[in-house]
Amino acid sequence: MTNKRDLSALDPPVDTERQGKRRHVTADSSDRKLELAFPSTSQTSQSKPVPFQQPVSLITFSYTPSRKLEFNNSALRYYVNPPRNANLRHGYERWIKRPEEKGRIDGLLRATSKLRNDMNAGASKGVDWIRSIGVVSWRGVMTKILTAPYEDRDSWEMNVMAIDGTMYFEEHLSDAKLVEKEDMAPHHRLQSYYGYSFESWCGSSKPEMPENLEGQPPGWGGDVDTNVQWCSVVKTKLGDTRMVIGGEVDCVRNAFTGQTSDFVELKTSIAIRGPQDEARFEKKLLKFYFQSFLLGVPEIIVGFRTPSGQLNTIQLFKTAQIPRMVRGKPNAWDPTTCFAWGQQFFAFLKSVIHPSAEPIAEQQGNVTSALRPQVWRVKFEPRVGVSVSLLGDAGVSEIQAGEDRVGFLPRWYWDEVQTYSGQISVTTQAFDPTHGKGEAPGTSSAQGMSREWQI
Ligand code: A3P
Ligand code: MG
Repeated sequence: MTNKRDLSALDPPVDTERQGKRRHVTADSSDRKLELAFPSTSQTSQSKPVPFQQPVSLITFSYTPSRKLEFNNSALRYYVNPPRNANLRHGYERWIKRPEEKGRIDGLLRATSKLRNDMNAGASKGVDWIRSIGVVSWRGVMTKILTAPYEDRDSWEMNVMAIDGTMYFEEHLSDAKLVEKEDMAPHHRLQSYYGYSFESWCGSSKPEMPENLEGQPPGWGGDVDTNVQWCSVVKTKLGDTRMVIGGEVDCVRNAFTGQTSDFVELKTSIAIRGPQDEARFEKKLLKFYFQSFLLGVPEIIVGFRTPSGQLNTIQLFKTAQIPRMVRGKPNAWDPTTCFAWGQQFFAFLKSVIHPSAEPIAEQQGNVTSALRPQVWRVKFEPRVGVSVSLLGDAGVSEIQAGEDRVGFLPRWYWDEVQTYSGQISVTTQAFDPTHGKGEAPGTSSAQGMSREWQI
């Protein structure tokens, strides 16, 4: 049974008008770029809140040190209080850092595929289930989408494909961006480590019993290996779009019962020294909130640290109460704005990506072409909005990076969908408006659509 978490039950909407920053975007019909203007952060009071269903955990899995995905809880950690004044630099030299990689959703697809198969048992239940899912995405991608109304610094890019009625998302990280991420400045690298180190100090292999490892300070949970992750896959629903979302869960409280109510998110932040730090922290709470909310994580434990990595204090935040805490503050944000924007974003994408026309194979009898799916690039620019464009062959090759993929999906997953999808509703390159004279179905009026979706 699922509970509806109606956000109207939270706080009254906050007026966070930032009109000076908002810009109007016009679609450029010449390159068929479709655009959705930057969302207003001031309209929630007039509109009906978009409901977001309480996430329900479907399955968990672990990545081993060799990055093997296993459907077990080998990487699960139990929360324990960290030692007072713990040194977050401890073990830095021994950090096994997972290399930066493209935002593949292969692990999540493994889980989705397993769920469908387990449900199936020869019948069509699993197929019906996956067909009812509108969006499959990692939690990080969803957080980026939903927090876009308040993002004023970082742009992002995503690749999107729609197969058999489901949209699949991956973050687009170009080779240049990957090199940039890998080549972190030493002080950033160290700061990043503090977060992982906090996870080690707060994690144990046994409930309520801090580790006591030979040759290590008491409470140290083990050297950090960022290949190792424990992940949960949940189902939820935003407005009328059902979603399957996966993400890493830092640890659980007490014994793990399979419910999201046990989940705990760990975060670190610089200790708050004044109003400026406080405002910065409240802004960070937006990301903390969505990151946790999307997986149904009910509590976040923040370790406040010194600049040089000594743990000062820890504070527990109840995820559901965070919006109330920022209400009326200078950097206030309102989750209802984010959910309203999210609903518009997915409706917009759906209207672009799911054309209503018949599959091309039936129109042209060209089966090969029908099996070449479209890959869309979604770009977000802070204070401007989102643009969507169809990738050509070069763009698709770039994201495949020589791997055996159909679009960005692993071929095995694609093949699976083929086997159960008698009437695959994929759109094809033959519809590609950038390649031919024909119009992409549903995209014949780029400007009209853009206007329609301006908020
Ligand atoms: P903190 O969030 O405590 O800073 P997450 O909490 O999202 O699972 O991330 C765990 C840790 O990964 C973060 O801890 C941070 O140290 C590191 N991390 C996450 N995103 C990062 C980024 N974009 N750049 C550098 N480090 C990052
Ligand atoms: Mg964390």
